[in-house]
Amino acid sequence: MSDPSSADRPKAKSVRPLASLLPFLKPYRSVLAWAMVALLLASGSMLALPVALKHLVDRGMSAGDADTIDIYFITFLGVAVLFGAFAAMRFYLVTWLGERVVADIRAAVYRNIVRMDPQFFEVTRTGEVLSRLTTDTTLVQSISGVGISIALRSTINLAGSIVMMGVTNLKLLGLILIAMPTVIVPVIALGRKLRKLSRSSQDRIADTSGLAGETLNAIQTVQAFTLEDLNVRRYDQAVEASFDIAVVRTRVRAWLTALSTTLVVAAITLVLWFGAHQVLADKMSGGELVQFLLFAVYAGVAAASLSEMWSEVQRAAGAMERLVELHHATPAILSPAVPQALPAVTPGAAAGRVRFEGVRFHYPSRPETPALDDFTLDIAPGETVAFVGPSGAGKSTTFQLLLRFYDPQHGRVLLDGIDIASADLHAVRSRIGLVPQDTVLFGASARENIRYGRPDASDAEVEAAAQAAAADEFIRALPEGYDSFLGERGLRLSGGQRQRIAIARAILRNPPLLLLDEATSALDAESERVVQEALEQLMRTRTTIIIAHRLATVLKADRIVVMDQGRIVASGTHADLIASNPLYARLAALQFNDRGTALL
Ligand SMILES: Nc1ncnc2c1ncn2[C@@H]1O[C@H](COP(=O)(O)OP(=O)(O)OP(=O)(O)O)[C@@H](O)[C@H]1O
Ligand SMILES: [Mg+2]
Repeated sequence: MSDPSSADRPKAKSVRPLASLLPFLKPYRSVLAWAMVALLLASGSMLALPVALKHLVDRGMSAGDADTIDIYFITFLGVAVLFGAFAAMRFYLVTWLGERVVADIRAAVYRNIVRMDPQFFEVTRTGEVLSRLTTDTTLVQSISGVGISIALRSTINLAGSIVMMGVTNLKLLGLILIAMPTVIVPVIALGRKLRKLSRSSQDRIADTSGLAGETLNAIQTVQAFTLEDLNVRRYDQAVEASFDIAVVRTRVRAWLTALSTTLVVAAITLVLWFGAHQVLADKMSGGELVQFLLFAVYAGVAAASLSEMWSEVQRAAGAMERLVELHHATPAILSPAVPQALPAVTPGAAAGRVRFEGVRFHYPSRPETPALDDFTLDIAPGETVAFVGPSGAGKSTTFQLLLRFYDPQHGRVLLDGIDIASADLHAVRSRIGLVPQDTVLFGASARENIRYGRPDASDAEVEAAAQAAAADEFIRALPEGYDSFLGERGLRLSGGQRQRIAIARAILRNPPLLLLDEATSALDAESERVVQEALEQLMRTRTTIIIAHRLATVLKADRIVVMDQGRIVASGTHADLIASNPLYARLAALQFNDRGTALL
């Protein structure tokens, strides 16, 4: 009995993260209850086995007639069969529970991670998140099902065996209880050390996947710059670091196993020796010694597996701690509790009024340099405004704020007259269609990728959108047409083709506010003309902000806003600006190509 009580202190300390498993177990209370019943029944029948054996030895064997012997053997076999059946039931229920809980944890963590804001992903490597979703959950899986079962079963068996040993022979039990603390104390000390090592070991593994994920996602850049060796060296270092920690952990664990096993076996030997003398002195029957011995073996095995489980529990606690971190991470950008409704969009009427009001914004990682400063701009519904300016002027940043990936430090951003910080995040974003500067496609078919714009769109609508974006022709030329798999991140398409898919997506979405970030930059002149026509059609009925370096695009805008270093330096029509703004005149001369000038 000294084992569970003296193990109490470190248990309470290190098991705390595992308490967060409880909410995940709650929905499966009834399965848990049945698992407990099976557990108790299995332990009960296991504890009955030595008693049956004692009767077999003391009465059955000495009875002399075959029938009596048969009855005792049949009883013994019956108890054994019961034990097998209950153990199987326990195994099934408990494993089911573990798998179920881990599946739920995985889903819950992922559900939380997908709503995190860009800031979170700036400080957390995606590979690390992936590692936690797989490695850490696997650790928790081992504990939440089988581990808990072993721990409970061992505890019950240990307690039951000790009680039964007392019933069999008190003196012998007394001897064991005196020997026990010598087993427990060193085991606890080592166990503590192990827990610390487990956490850092898991951290190192997460490091390596983070590193690998990062480079594999950009493998062509790595190869183009011939950085393979450098990355291999870095990865090797990370792998070695994780190996070193694992070795230290394994060594401690090996000591733990050696120590606990040896000490337990030594204690049992002591008992055997003492018991043999008692049988010699006729103070105990042979059957009783056999029974006591079996219970002592049970107790020893239970104690050993408890101490072994202990390190497993500690590893799982470390893993759970980090999963809980991910599960409870809250995005910096949230919808307010009581969001203000955006005015309804009526068909035909132009919506998508935009207002930047004294906005000052710096990225969290760059507190010194504002990306936007003193930025005030009104865009009327239906208007088409072009943002031009040198690279790094803050053009894309305005889109980041409109989509509310970040909140400005000063000022407000309004959509249809409502401060987007006080509106529902999804309501705001669903009014916006974005064709980003670097198009991201998903590892799915062309059809699925376009459908991302509006998941409930029909096939016909998807194809119509593709036609409008001049994407229909090349998609049909793919091996399986619209159902062709585009490769991971759409790598099987050219840059211009990817861009047209992104435009088709925005067309399908049909939003009141369209944001085009150099949407046609990767297109050749012919496709650009086709896409341009489609976009013009689109722009006619909605508010559009275009970021563009090409004059042909800019000229179509109602108004041109020139930006530099996060500020608006001028705005007006092309003709006004050429005459009045030296920066624009220079951009027009340099960046806008000859074709553009020829259009003048
Ligand atoms: N995630 C980020 N974290 C920190 N700084 C950023 C981040 N994104 C952009 N910046 C910085 O903010 C400034 C404005 O960037 P922005 O992307 O808005 O420029 P841009 O006008 O779109 O340029 P380009 O024409 O090259 O696309 C730049 O100095 C840039 O380095
Ligand atoms: Mg940009």
